[in-house]
Amino acid sequence: MKKNIQIAIDGPAGAGKSTIAKIVAEKLGFTYIDTGAMYRAVTYKALQENIELNDEKKLEEMLLKTTIELKPSPNGQLVFLDGKDVTMKIRSHEVTANVPKVAAIGKVREILVAIQKQLAKDGAVVMDGRDIGTNVLKDAELKIFMSASVEERAKRRLLDNEKRGISSDFEKLKEEIALRDKQDMEREISPLVQAEDAIYLDTTDLSIEEVAEKILHLAKEKME
Ligand code: CDP
Ligand code: CDP
Repeated sequence: MKKNIQIAIDGPAGAGKSTIAKIVAEKLGFTYIDTGAMYRAVTYKALQENIELNDEKKLEEMLLKTTIELKPSPNGQLVFLDGKDVTMKIRSHEVTANVPKVAAIGKVREILVAIQKQLAKDGAVVMDGRDIGTNVLKDAELKIFMSASVEERAKRRLLDNEKRGISSDFEKLKEEIALRDKQDMEREISPLVQAEDAIYLDTTDLSIEEVAEKILHLAKEKME
């Protein structure tokens, strides 16, 4: 019998975490959990409600009245906030730029991490984020820390934007990515850092298929 393992994937923005996590989950018949989408949904709601993004008490009150659901669909994972589909809205430039502020707040992390642990408790999950291997799933059987040069990650984001009909400036994208990484790495609570027992994967010169293949191979070894 194959084991229902937990796979944790962490790394900076644009490393390929969500793309790869989705493929790996699908191939193994596991559930994919995008924790970044949860921090984005909370940020979106806080912006909508004009809550100061450093006001821990207000954010906590808001979160206690909030439901976030991740639902698989043929077109990828959908994100529901208080019953409404916000999948596209949480990818806006405004949300992306502000999410590290909200993600630095202790109470926000405490509440979201509790949900994430609950979702993963039976295993058979691929979860991606910033603190999965170091905090959320400390006992995950397989931990990957995925990265790529900031140039490559900005190039990927530029292409993503082009496909969505959004024109963007390469240098500006690079700066924004570097700033978000810095904020995520320098926050006090659960900063972005490689777990000691994580496998480091530099995806700069690797295709999506090559990265997915490597992780699937590692996962199958752990499942035996
Ligand atoms: O997909 P992308 O790399 O742009 O980011 P994301 O995974 O959607 O995460 C957005 C932001 O949420 C990150 O920049 C972090 O500030 C925060 N985040 C976090 O703090 N912890 C996680 N486990 C996941 C995301
Ligand atoms: O989730 P994260 O922010 O780490 O990255 P992503 O959203 O999965 O990937 C960003 C973009 O890079 C997507 O358009 C992927 O198709 C692309 N990508 C790539 O070109 N080569 C890879 N090895 C991995 C991702």
